[in-house]
Amino acid sequence: MQEKLLNLQQEALSEIKDMQDIEQVESLRVKYLGKKGEITSILKEMGKLSAEERPVIGKVANEVREAIDTAISTKKDELKNIEKQRKLAEEVLDVTMPAKEFKVGKKHPISQIIDEVSEIFIGMGFSIAEGPEVETVGNNFDALNAPKDHPSRDMSDTFYINDELLLRTQTSPVQVRTMKNEELPIKIISPGRCFRFDAPDATHSPMFHQIEGLVVGKDVTMAQLKGTLDMFVKKLFGEHTKTKFRPHNFPFTEPSAEVDVTCFKCQGAGCQMCKGEGWIEILGAGMVHPNVLRNCGIDPEVYSGFAFGMGLDRITMLKYEIDDIRLLFENDMRFLNQF
Ligand code: PHE
Repeated sequence: MQEKLLNLQQEALSEIKDMQDIEQVESLRVKYLGKKGEITSILKEMGKLSAEERPVIGKVANEVREAIDTAISTKKDELKNIEKQRKLAEEVLDVTMPAKEFKVGKKHPISQIIDEVSEIFIGMGFSIAEGPEVETVGNNFDALNAPKDHPSRDMSDTFYINDELLLRTQTSPVQVRTMKNEELPIKIISPGRCFRFDAPDATHSPMFHQIEGLVVGKDVTMAQLKGTLDMFVKKLFGEHTKTKFRPHNFPFTEPSAEVDVTCFKCQGAGCQMCKGEGWIEILGAGMVHPNVLRNCGIDPEVYSGFAFGMGLDRITMLKYEIDDIRLLFENDMRFLNQF
């Protein structure tokens, strides 16, 4: 029996020695040492032995068991180590390799102008209000006092979604939302996207940006409108900038004006930038029409207000001397990286 055990040990050790696979090695533990393993089956014969032989064989059996167990553990460690070395060799890191270029984006020039313009108005006590790009016909036209036959209502000028909804053609509907929902006094600006049914060319894009301004309260005057815009253009274009208010017509303001600033390139002398005029038109403005106040539940006998709106794409183009609006929306990094 002793011999059987020793033979088994030899057989096991040589089998372990040739193993290449960790899982297979582990399975030998069951094969030799498990409850139904080979050693156990030899030891089942123990009953046939004499009382003197039994402890001797028991001792040998333990030694054999231990030898096989140690061999399995050692082999496993060995295989693990080989695997580790193989992985290390495979995953060598070449620290001299140049790093991948990491590109950080930057703000779009229009976003930069929105920030700059907003900063100036925030400094004058305005807060920012936002409105949706999909608007109601009511907020975009009706409440703003636009006559039913106003040309801008036409299908050929406005993107309608259905009879009641459209893509806002101006930021002015934010005026309506603010007057209807906020407490007086109101002092807001509202930058955002607008949409008009225009074929793209150097100065037109069906999607463009405006910023709206609205002040409503007691004793709000046209003088304050002029003062506010004057201060704004001086901050944006430089201290020497002058404004000129030309009479105009908007349905939602009365009186209304278009506002020009002295060309910041030639200071009014006339150059290519201002097409020899010395002046550049940058915004529309006026005193909020009593009908608009009334439509928004504000008593025009008690309150008054002024409003203005300007095209941000145009201001961006003027400031950075960009001669084609389409460049702003083509997302060509060679262009955008210049700002
Ligand atoms: N909404 C006008 C436009 O798109 C601009 C404007 C805003 C004029 C506010 C007056 C007051 O042309």
